[in-house]
Amino acid sequence: MCGIMGYNGNKNAIPIVINGLKSLEYRGYDSSGIAYFFNNNIKVIKEKGRISELEKLISDDKSNLCIGHTRWATHGSPNRINAHPHNVGSVTIVHNGIIENYHELKNKLIKDGYKFKSETDTEVACALIDSIYQKKKDKLKTLIEIQTILKGSYAFLIIFNDEKTIYALRHGSPLIIAESSIGNLIASDIPAILEYTKEYYLLEEGEIAEIKEDNIIFYQEGKEIKKDKLIFEHDLSSAKKEGYSHFMLKEIYEQPKVIDNFLKYYFENFNLIPDIRNYKKIHIVACGSAYHAGLLGKVFLEEYLDFNVIVETSSEYRYSKPFIDKDTLVILISQSGETADTLAAMRLAKEKGAKTLGIVNVIGSSLARECDDVIYINAGPEIAVATTKAYTLQVLTLSLIAFKLGINLNKITKEEQDIIKNDYLLISKEIKKLLKEDYQDLVNKIYKKEHIFFIGRLMDYYSCLEGSLKLKEISYIHSETYPAGELKHGTISLIEDNTPIIGIATDDNIYEKTISNIKEVKARGAYVILLKRNDLKVEETVYDKLINIPKKNNLVMPIITIIPLQLIAFEVAKKLGYDIDKPRNLAKSVTVE
Ligand code: AGP
Repeated sequence: MCGIMGYNGNKNAIPIVINGLKSLEYRGYDSSGIAYFFNNNIKVIKEKGRISELEKLISDDKSNLCIGHTRWATHGSPNRINAHPHNVGSVTIVHNGIIENYHELKNKLIKDGYKFKSETDTEVACALIDSIYQKKKDKLKTLIEIQTILKGSYAFLIIFNDEKTIYALRHGSPLIIAESSIGNLIASDIPAILEYTKEYYLLEEGEIAEIKEDNIIFYQEGKEIKKDKLIFEHDLSSAKKEGYSHFMLKEIYEQPKVIDNFLKYYFENFNLIPDIRNYKKIHIVACGSAYHAGLLGKVFLEEYLDFNVIVETSSEYRYSKPFIDKDTLVILISQSGETADTLAAMRLAKEKGAKTLGIVNVIGSSLARECDDVIYINAGPEIAVATTKAYTLQVLTLSLIAFKLGINLNKITKEEQDIIKNDYLLISKEIKKLLKEDYQDLVNKIYKKEHIFFIGRLMDYYSCLEGSLKLKEISYIHSETYPAGELKHGTISLIEDNTPIIGIATDDNIYEKTISNIKEVKARGAYVILLKRNDLKVEETVYDKLINIPKKNNLVMPIITIIPLQLIAFEVAKKLGYDIDKPRNLAKSVTVE
């Protein structure tokens, strides 16, 4: 996901914008650039690769207005020409999002005499703004018209070469704007402004902001409006590594604390946990790790429902034919609240009359604001691209929703409630114990492997999916997950001497079945890493490395089971020397289709 930063004030804007872009690096990018006023001209400097490459091109120019961008390539390869900012005529812009009708717009602009240097949709948007501005000679009217023409998602910062003002507008992609003691700031996300202020405005859909050196004006449909400021609740440390080597490691170790805070808050405000007993259909829709959390939500809820829960990835759901009606609850899970496919799935669900519940981390994100109801997981900013604390809190949220459902349907006795609640309150203690474990010997065994397989059944299978994703997205090792019972239907042919297999067996209802599948691969030479519930018995010949997971209620087990797999993935990637917080090709939130 691209990063945007802008500044207009009485300080030197260039280092402020560069610093802001660096705090947005976690979003994932492959080129960067800045544009600033200098001697009454607009200078654009941009480069492929990391921001450190861009910094090599920056002179000691000073300017008090600058916009900057980190690009995650969508249209056109990651190179200097396609990097932002783009300048056409009197207009220079940076953009986060995707313009869906850029082809037709480009053809029309070419007919009007415009020539294009890049392959990007952004340059087309820039030319369109210039072409309308040349006719209207009125910036606000130009931008209002732009909103009626462009289709797709955008967050723009726009500067015109005849005025030292930054204009901002958005549709789908977020923008925050802040006044601070050093001047006015605009950014895609909180970490870029936290150093200067915790108060900010959230630019809403359709609003236009005019950010001058000493003033910010907001417009809605051409009329000036007043906006309320929001306050970021977490502290600056959440955007810093605080002594950890990586944000991912910090966020793994934050899990006991954020889980305890979450449980304290929601047990004290149990009424905030949605009561879902009256729905006749429940769909859970999400992407990536959030989807894996949704699969666990299915297991939790079906323990008490008398119908099946449908879980789909957002990109499939939005183009499938979901049978939705007014008695349907669609639960959308998203850490960022800006994932394009999940937003589209939510809008489809609302169009078809369903109630929508968002399970979201980023306060005020699009999903949080558009869902009928939202429950915040309060993980604090998650900077590492590979999610850990947000994932476990998503699972915990679904678990609490199921717990409340079981209580409301009188399917959990008072005595059982006390036992389960006690298990919830023991999660952080159990995680702390697992965080002390050393997995180096098994990491040494597997880090050079080309393929690593995960197997499990039902909720253990879903935990395998998440463990496998963690491993592959930061270590780039090919990893696949199979329902343990499926291996015999083809995949087992891939197993040979020392093929690493990570098996999870914590559900006592199907424990023996999973163990027998593990024996099948062991018999064929696999190197077996077994994660099992600590009270369940197994012969030593079944595994090469054993990781015991403390016995808890099934509503709690998966939250603990994933911890060793997060750590193993981290240690393998660290041993391989990869950029763990910013894995290649990945973005923290995929705000484009
Ligand atoms: C998981 O480690 C990835 N970062 C990715 O799968 C992520 O879970 C997915 O892109 C969904 O993001 P969201 O929760 O912000 O919607």
